[in-house]
Amino acid sequence: MNTLPHVLDGVVIASEIKAEVAREVVDLTSRGIRPGLVVILVGEVPASQIYVRSKVKTCGELGIYSELITPPESITTEEMLAMVADLNAREDIDGILIQLPLPKHVDTKRLLEAVAPEKDVDGFHPVNAGRLQAGQPGLAPCTPAGIIEILRRTGLPIAGQNAVVVGRSDIVGKPAALLLLNESATVTVCHSKTRDLPSFTRNADILVAAIGRPGYVTADMVKPGAVLIDVGINRLTDPADVQKFFPGDAERAATFAKRGSVIVGDIDPAAFAISGAYTPVPGGVGALTIAMLMHNTVKAAKLRRGIV
Ligand code: GUN
Repeated sequence: MNTLPHVLDGVVIASEIKAEVAREVVDLTSRGIRPGLVVILVGEVPASQIYVRSKVKTCGELGIYSELITPPESITTEEMLAMVADLNAREDIDGILIQLPLPKHVDTKRLLEAVAPEKDVDGFHPVNAGRLQAGQPGLAPCTPAGIIEILRRTGLPIAGQNAVVVGRSDIVGKPAALLLLNESATVTVCHSKTRDLPSFTRNADILVAAIGRPGYVTADMVKPGAVLIDVGINRLTDPADVQKFFPGDAERAATFAKRGSVIVGDIDPAAFAISGAYTPVPGGVGALTIAMLMHNTVKAAKLRRGIV
């Protein structure tokens, strides 16, 4: 029997979610409600500019109203707090997204806590973190929510599975662990201080890697047949690294020759070959983040109006 690992195509799943969101927007609009998202992008960070443009463009495609606010790098925390207060009070705005990272002189924590929890489409506010922890309806962070969508929509079981999350960030690792726990997985969270990491990862039926280190999870750390969810996006610029992670890969070599870099996740691609299923990088988890942001914007529009 041919048992090639199954590629979990984030682009296809993201299209499904966006089509569903577009249908919901049509329904809401027919009832006089047009979901609206504001994105705040401070200064001129090229990577953030690309990302934000894509968010605004997707809003347009799905019929969601959007505004992009681009204050200069010199904006103060107080000025940003005033901006957020205005947006919190606006009836036509359902979601407020402050693109991170912010300039060093801006107090990120204070700002994220100033966003009304009902409009916190990033799911970064402590109130939403608390709701997630308590299993109450709220807004969950987009990337971890995307992981659950990939598993669910592919029909992969979560309940009763051993899920191991490597990484404990507030944005990915912790919420991913809680979402998996809420789906009745048996969850272990590993991190930089974990002793004997492979002894945990080898026990994983579902392994989520969110560490931020290229190819950190190697094939010998993975149970054959496991579902591998790779959240990492790491840029390789050393040809030796490209050779190490993608030996004999002509397509990657061509990309490297053209752009001077290629992207690798937190899982060594050699591990994918022994997995049951895996999310590629790029085109896996990352492809879902914007779709989930759109989903959260519509969810926020409905939650705020008591529509279930
Ligand atoms: N910067 C990189 N990813 C994200 C994200 O998902 N949300 C926000 N607000 N900033 C980001």
